[in-house]
Amino acid sequence: MGSSVSCCGNDKVEEGLTLGGGGENVNQWRIFTYKELHTATNGFSDDYKLGEGGFGSVYWGRTSDGLQIAVKKLKSMNSKAEMEFAVEVEVLGRVRHKNLLGLRGYCAGNDQRLIVYDYMPNLSLLSHLHGQFAGEVQLDWKKRMKVAMGSAEGILYLHHEVTPHIIHRDIKASNVLLDSNFDPLVADFGFAKLIPEGVSHMTTRVKGTLGYLAPEYAMWGKVSESCDVYSFGILLLEIVTGRKPIQKLPGGVKRTITEWAEPHISKGRFKDLADPKLRGNFDESQLVQAINVAALCVQSEPEKRPTMKEVVLLLNTAAPVAARIKSVKYSEDLMARDQDDDDDDDDGDGRNGYEDESSVYGVFGALEAQKMEAPFRRYGERR
Ligand SMILES: Nc1ncnc2c1ncn2[C@@H]1O[C@H](COP(=O)(O)OP(=O)(O)OP(=O)(O)O)[C@@H](O)[C@H]1O
Ligand SMILES: [Mg+2]
Repeated sequence: MGSSVSCCGNDKVEEGLTLGGGGENVNQWRIFTYKELHTATNGFSDDYKLGEGGFGSVYWGRTSDGLQIAVKKLKSMNSKAEMEFAVEVEVLGRVRHKNLLGLRGYCAGNDQRLIVYDYMPNLSLLSHLHGQFAGEVQLDWKKRMKVAMGSAEGILYLHHEVTPHIIHRDIKASNVLLDSNFDPLVADFGFAKLIPEGVSHMTTRVKGTLGYLAPEYAMWGKVSESCDVYSFGILLLEIVTGRKPIQKLPGGVKRTITEWAEPHISKGRFKDLADPKLRGNFDESQLVQAINVAALCVQSEPEKRPTMKEVVLLLNTAAPVAARIKSVKYSEDLMARDQDDDDDDDDGDGRNGYEDESSVYGVFGALEAQKMEAPFRRYGERR
């Protein structure tokens, strides 16, 4: 690990090593200079912008040694003292797992807080389910199951293997990134630690997140590992069904994915839940198992939800689980907060409750597609 804090304006570059079990250098991270990141991202140019989240903007970049990176430039609300920020980032930097997007480095100083990750060429799960790649249907059933299982393993590692344990708090499709092999890497874990007291993700941005939030977290701010389990259950339903966590129906009524799934599950009509884009190409027993596991995860009482260890076990072994979804309703004021940017989400409620394939852009997708399409094309040419 880097031994001390370096200022962005300072050209001194510190380096840190994370050692694997055998002592080998698994992944090297370092402190970047502001100048270096400025150059790599062409001055944080809009053309290089990958997207914008609740904590700031993310830019594509290439370092002088050719490494493709994604640089998250945190908003000024991240007024944490430089030292405090560095300590917390270094803690996160120590977390290494094949399904977690580890830190490549950071830069802190002169009111700037930047975090550097490896660039993930297949972008996010969101872009494949509802964004600019949705039409290509690159995510076949096998890949979807790999994404579900890998994401579960990454979260399990955060909950049970890292000391102190990390609660992610923001598990969702845009925080599952896909490498060149479509292996999933869960991103933005532990981010709450980097935000000053009193500034919560909920107060800064509900859009695109609300549908994943456990009711006890959304309504009373009660955080525990089981909030992540709830979010994972929603993610699992989303992966299998290709539906968004909250959909706006014609007329403006909002419906959660669990409300939609509940009647299908209670009638045992699991096949009706599969994403129509898969055109029937899925393993039915895996589908039933995934839906049942998701149903266990999204129970409204946190103590009834399984742990991530149990989730991984159940997904792996196909042991019989029977569960019924009891859909959760968010309070009206929370739903209203999700509404602001949703006007693009006027999905049809077509045949069997499925929207027509041309209307897959919505709460999450349209915005991301809009922001990411142009820069991505340019990266495609460079790669
Ligand atoms: N390493 C990366 N490689 C490729 N794309 C990335 C990378 N990191 C982030 N992105 C993409 O950049 C966009 C912005 O990411 P960001 O994390 O800021 O927002 P978000 O995931 O939508 O919301 P949140 O702030 O809650 O995490 C997202 O679409 C995300 O998938
Ligand atoms: Mg993110």
